[in-house]
Amino acid sequence: MARTYIEDLGNHVGTDVTIHGWVYNKRSSGKIKFIIVRDGTGLLQCVMVKAALPEEVFEKFGELTQESSLKVTGTVKEEPRAPGGYELEVKDLSIIHIAVDYPITPKEHGVEFLMDRRHLWLRSTRQHAIMRVRHYIIKAIRDYFDSNGFTLIDSPILTPNAVEGTTTLFETEYFDLGKAFLTQSGQLYGEAAAMAHGKVYCFGPTFRAEKSKTRRHLTEFWMVEPEVAFNDLNDNMDLAEDFLEYVVSSTLKEKASELETLERDTSYLEKVKKPMPRISYDEAVDILRKKGIDFEWGGDLGGTDETVISEQFDKPVMVHRYPAQVKAFYMKRDPENEKLALALDVLAPEGYGEIIGGSQREDDYDTLVERINEHNLPMEPFEWYLDLRKYGSVPHAGFGLGIERTVSWICGLDHVRETVPFARMIYRNTP
Ligand code: 4AD
Ligand code: MG
Repeated sequence: MARTYIEDLGNHVGTDVTIHGWVYNKRSSGKIKFIIVRDGTGLLQCVMVKAALPEEVFEKFGELTQESSLKVTGTVKEEPRAPGGYELEVKDLSIIHIAVDYPITPKEHGVEFLMDRRHLWLRSTRQHAIMRVRHYIIKAIRDYFDSNGFTLIDSPILTPNAVEGTTTLFETEYFDLGKAFLTQSGQLYGEAAAMAHGKVYCFGPTFRAEKSKTRRHLTEFWMVEPEVAFNDLNDNMDLAEDFLEYVVSSTLKEKASELETLERDTSYLEKVKKPMPRISYDEAVDILRKKGIDFEWGGDLGGTDETVISEQFDKPVMVHRYPAQVKAFYMKRDPENEKLALALDVLAPEGYGEIIGGSQREDDYDTLVERINEHNLPMEPFEWYLDLRKYGSVPHAGFGLGIERTVSWICGLDHVRETVPFARMIYRNTP
């Protein structure tokens, strides 16, 4: 019989189907046995009635253990009390493989125990829901750019230079060419592509040798980075808020059941609509001081500072015009105040902190040479990048959104390690 998936059972009520899956749970009440089967698309209660089954089929129930794999055939019935709203009246069952002593049981396990068994933990209901939300967020991001005239340009992962500072680079030997680095951001290549295509985005894994053990830091994470020729800082903020509104509202709509599984209170997420508040760094500093934090002008905002600022708003807040000294070499300075960079960070509500970092880029050749020197970066690997300022230079701007922080925020998780299938952190590179 043709294979059917649990999420499609609504189209098969009253007919016989075969489900291929794994035992999630089982229980028994006298002459009726229940197996909860999962198949990757949902959970299904399968009912075995002794009187309705050949003895040898009914006996198989006893052999089944948690996570054993099986094929089960039966009639689909509507059952509002069952998970998913349907159940299967079993007619036949065959065991594919018996799982012995599956280590993750319904009892509570510590996070490290679960992270060590991440290859199995992915099967659990919450983890399954998180990965489905992650998948959808990535799709929504692509849909947004693809339907708004952006061209996808993949940037390289092995690169000859730093983008976001030299202290978080992963190095590797690259044949006779010396050292290569795992990319921290595809932005510089995005800028080249924007001069060819106007509106582009890159989307890929990025790497930071971050010595941070916070709930927001991974050493390998995914970032989507739009870059638009002729955009200035304000256009960049317009794009960021329009994009965020789309991604959040479509995820709320399309992944409502997963968010319910995660028991996410979505009231804040429903408010993620344009316009979103825009405050300058100076205003952010005022907020911190009014809240009694002794914050010195000129420093970067720390995790706690971001939380305090974002708590003043019920939507994502855009903080612009940071002190240039805490930002990257490529950011254009504010013509009104040379001490400021035309930077933009978006802070998510509910204490999730920075999810987007971006800026208008320096588009003047001589100024950019000066910045590269000021940051003690080697000139040679940036020669191609400087070319963009030699041949038809234009104002341009872009930003990067971190996928894991976004998933963490939308799912309401307390650590980014659960937002990516196999997290890479300072103390973990397995499984
Ligand atoms: O603010 P960042 O460093 O900006 C850039 O890399 C720019 N070149 C992007 C651009 O303008 N095209 O990083 C952007 C975002 C952060 O806001 C955060 O969401 C995420 O990437 N991010 C991290 N996520 C997880 N772990 C880390 N270690 C991260 N570092 C940055
Ligand atoms: Mg940043």
